[in-house]
Amino acid sequence: MQNSHLNRQVWAFSLYFCLGIVVCESFHYSVPEEKKSGSLVANVLKDLKLDVKELVNRRARLVSEGTKQYFQLDPQSGNVLLKDSIDREVLCGQKDPCVLLSEIVLENPLQVHRMEVEIEDVNDNSPQFFKKEFIFEIPEQTPLSTRFPLEKAQDWDKGENAVQNYTLSPNDHFRLGDGSKNVELVLEKQLDHEENARLILILSAVDGGTPKRTGTTNIIIDVLDNNDNVPQFGHSVYKVKLMENPQQNTLVTKVKATDRDLGSNGCITYSFSQVPEHVSKAFNLNKHTGELTVAGTIDYEKEISYEINVKATDGGGLSDYCKVIVEVEDRNDNAPDVTLTSLTSPLPEDSPLDTVVALLRVTDRDSGDNGRTSCTTEATLPFVLKVSVNNYYQLVTQQFLDREKASEYNITITATDRGSPRLISIRIINVQISDINDNAPAFEKSTYQMQIRENNIPGLLIGLVHADDEDTEQNAKVTYSLLPGKVSDQPVSSYVSINSETGNLYAIRSLDYEQVKDFQVTVRAVDSGSPPLSSEVMVLLVVMDENDNAPFILYPLQNGTSPSNDLVPRGAEAGYLVTKVVAVDRDYGQNSWLSYELLKATEPGLFSVGAQNGEVKTMRPINKRDSFKQKLIIGVRDNGHPSQSTSATLSILLVDGFSDPYMKIVDTPKEEVVEEEDRNLTLYLVICLAVISFIFLVSVLVFIAIKIQKRRKFIESSTLNFPVGSNFQENCGIGGAGTLAQAYNYEVCLAGGSLNSEFRFLRPLFPVFSADPSHLLRDSRISAGSEDLSSHQAESQLISQARGAVSEDSAARSGGPGCAGNQAITANANIGQNDWLSYQ
Ligand SMILES: *[C@@H]1O[C@H](CO)[C@@H](O)[C@H](O)[C@H]1NC(C)=O
Ligand SMILES: *[C@@H]1O[C@H](CO)[C@@H](O)[C@H](O)[C@H]1NC(C)=O
Ligand SMILES: *[C@@H]1O[C@H](CO)[C@@H](O)[C@H](O)[C@H]1NC(C)=O
Repeated sequence: MQNSHLNRQVWAFSLYFCLGIVVCESFHYSVPEEKKSGSLVANVLKDLKLDVKELVNRRARLVSEGTKQYFQLDPQSGNVLLKDSIDREVLCGQKDPCVLLSEIVLENPLQVHRMEVEIEDVNDNSPQFFKKEFIFEIPEQTPLSTRFPLEKAQDWDKGENAVQNYTLSPNDHFRLGDGSKNVELVLEKQLDHEENARLILILSAVDGGTPKRTGTTNIIIDVLDNNDNVPQFGHSVYKVKLMENPQQNTLVTKVKATDRDLGSNGCITYSFSQVPEHVSKAFNLNKHTGELTVAGTIDYEKEISYEINVKATDGGGLSDYCKVIVEVEDRNDNAPDVTLTSLTSPLPEDSPLDTVVALLRVTDRDSGDNGRTSCTTEATLPFVLKVSVNNYYQLVTQQFLDREKASEYNITITATDRGSPRLISIRIINVQISDINDNAPAFEKSTYQMQIRENNIPGLLIGLVHADDEDTEQNAKVTYSLLPGKVSDQPVSSYVSINSETGNLYAIRSLDYEQVKDFQVTVRAVDSGSPPLSSEVMVLLVVMDENDNAPFILYPLQNGTSPSNDLVPRGAEAGYLVTKVVAVDRDYGQNSWLSYELLKATEPGLFSVGAQNGEVKTMRPINKRDSFKQKLIIGVRDNGHPSQSTSATLSILLVDGFSDPYMKIVDTPKEEVVEEEDRNLTLYLVICLAVISFIFLVSVLVFIAIKIQKRRKFIESSTLNFPVGSNFQENCGIGGAGTLAQAYNYEVCLAGGSLNSEFRFLRPLFPVFSADPSHLLRDSRISAGSEDLSSHQAESQLISQARGAVSEDSAARSGGPGCAGNQAITANANIGQNDWLSYQ
């Protein structure tokens, strides 16, 4: 609008000049704004140098460019008046000076005068801020002197009336900057969200008018939270005691950190900081609550204490650290441990006392009383524990050992600690006892008796001996052997042998009861230990009889060369004892029990034979018809199984006029007989003694004579080398090798209780002792050479012997019944060799 005014004025002036109009002076006036309409601006008369009349005549008028006329000219007075109130700020805005242009036009002559009216400012506007309030968000921690520019207040007035000065409501943090151009807040003191989260300041703008006008606005400052607070733990060190072996999730402690920041800046998370792996496995830290719990095994024996660094971090990444010290307390959770350091097993059974068998170490991983240990073993064992230094124990022997009683020991070692409750651990040590050859083999019996039937096959198993050895293995390996010895001049080894392994005894040769009835061998058992031990046992071998010998008739002689005839008087009564058949059996016992029977007789019924005693008696008186010569065949049978038998032929002559004193004695009364008997016996004994003494004397004389003769012969002639006695020569001739090998004495037993003497049996007693040593020598040779021969010789001897006995018997009989009294008469063939030689 102003521009258009200006343009119009310019246009008018140029028009005037073109029309040749004179433009005169210009006038300058001023008027304050906001004046009422009709107010006087100026009087132009004086300036125009015209009077009122002229003014009217010349039709003075006021021309303003534009449509709006602010002024009017009163021609009557020449005053220029305000047509309307003017607001400078509206009219001109900020244009300064604010001038309104008008022309005063006069006619006749046309004159145009310029009139300028300046509108003067009046302080009619207050400073004004664009907004009622300004909001700032300023983070705390913003550095001091930071400037925050503010918007200026607006004052439409100008000059002095415009904004001159700003003021800020009193506060601690801000001041206004002193720069005149810009309004700004200067931070003077640190903002703290935690202290004051919002500041409200009043900014006033003051203009320079009179009176001063002010305008205000609110400045709201929101202090933004900065993570300016470090989290902070309640304690820098947390000390906790924890019993070992806690349950999982046991609460150990709770750490707590605080942070004054808000929101995420105040949100704390907990974590381990630089914690070794084994610790982080053992514990668990709740990252939100700070609770430290047990997650793994806590073992005092592994770790006495834990140092755990815990970090508390807020959302802004600031952290604080604390330390949790967990002291683990010992619990008696470890039993003592028995370690076997050394062991001597097997242990020789002859170990001396105090031999160290084992070395033990007892340890307990607990501490204090929980780790203090003691160690014991059973009191019954031959071992004892000896304490050494440093929890070492020696197991030593306290008794002598005997493997044969206990070959191994299970020694229980009990270790106890002193914790509460006590813990015990047991270790069993097996100690083997090794064998020492300290036991000799022992036979099952103190003596053995074995029986073997005669006529055995060679190699027959007789029996076995057995010896046990209480030791083991080689020390118990027993071998058997026979000790050297003699059995009737032969080495024992020719009779029996022994299996060295099994102890079986075998007969080597066939045995003959009639030669050897029993013999002893000594068996030795030796073990294989080193040194070997041995023991011996006697084995009595008893040869058992077999019925291998037929009865042998001793009387009457049976080879018939000189048949003996028994004489029986024809007047003999019934029951007359004719003779007695004497037989022997070389077997033993039942095998030698003989029985007699009459097999055949010339006159049956005349004679009988005593089944037991072989006595031949008449059964009836002899009559005339009985023939002179009677022949009896008597069988003799032994009691063996099977039995053997033989027979004897007996010739009996019945003669006349043969009286038998015996018969008469039989008839005499018994009382008298006894007295007579005694007298007779004495008499006979005296006679016998005299005869024997005489014979002995004669024998001695003969012996001496022979000796003398022999010596003389020996001296005189060396060609004659025969020993004494023709009988020896004869025997040599018969045997070819010598004389009797097995000579026997026979004991003739006359059984008591019977007047009639009976031969029960004839038993060999001792071998005949020969006076001549050369004779003995021959004996042994014969026995080695020919048994048959020797038995043959023996038989011949027996016969002659028995004959002697019989003749004695008959002599006793003829002398009287006294000789056959209740006594056993031993007819000893070896009273003197001459004695029996004479029978031959
Ligand atoms: C602004 O105001 C202050 C006090 O209110 C005063 O000291 C200062 O002189 C003033 N400045 C001006 C330019 O008026
Ligand atoms: C010792 O122990 C072993 C194994 O347990 C067993 O075979 C043996 O019979 C025991 N010995 C003794 C003497 O108890
Ligand atoms: C009869 O036999 C025995 C032995 O059999 C003998 O000793 C005796 O000489 C013999 N008698 C005769 C006469 O041959």
